[in-house]
Amino acid sequence: MRFIFSFFLLLVSFVSASEDRFKLPELTMPENNLSFSTIQGYEDYHIVATHFRTDKKELRYILANPIAYEALKNKTEVMPDGSILVKIGWDVEEMELFPSALEAKEVQRVEYMIKDSKRFDHDGDHWGYARFVKQENAEYKSWDKGTHSCISCHQIAKENDYLFTRYQKVF
Ligand code: HEC
Repeated sequence: MRFIFSFFLLLVSFVSASEDRFKLPELTMPENNLSFSTIQGYEDYHIVATHFRTDKKELRYILANPIAYEALKNKTEVMPDGSILVKIGWDVEEMELFPSALEAKEVQRVEYMIKDSKRFDHDGDHWGYARFVKQENAEYKSWDKGTHSCISCHQIAKENDYLFTRYQKVF
């Protein structure tokens, strides 16, 4: 009986925890049909790198899903199908208590790249690209200017499987 009761409690806490989770908006990229919900739960992915774009004054976190994380850790040269890298861009502000320190303010965008060799092939680049931009009303909007610019700029990183990210190992 006690066992059944504990099981019930566990179930209730699991259901309420999953209800608390932020549900990603129902948005799809017009060009390649990649949806925002593909990365539902990305807050649980591993952070593998942090970058700062001085021109855009944006702090970027790069997260990897379990497939991409294993591949990065093992220095796999070509990331396997199913790999996802997510980039979150934050604008920054001076920290009130210590102005020479900048802290993240608001999320500006969430982007991802997903490896799918059957679905995508831009001259050997097997990544699908998706970008969701936060608007002034705080709602997200899918990027409607196409993915040709993503593909062409990521060519710079061709030797690293089109990824700029290098795994920033903590230990
Ligand atoms: C003009 C160049 C340029 C364009 C255009 C561009 N990127 Fe990137 N991207 C970068 C650079 C540089 C980085 C690494 C620095 C950073 O995190 O911003 C990066 C990083 C990324 C990452 C993390 C994985 C990695 O390669 O490091 C993702 C995901 C990503 N971009 C998605 C996109 C998507 C989606 C688009 C198009 C909608 C896009 N990018 C367009 C230059 C570009």
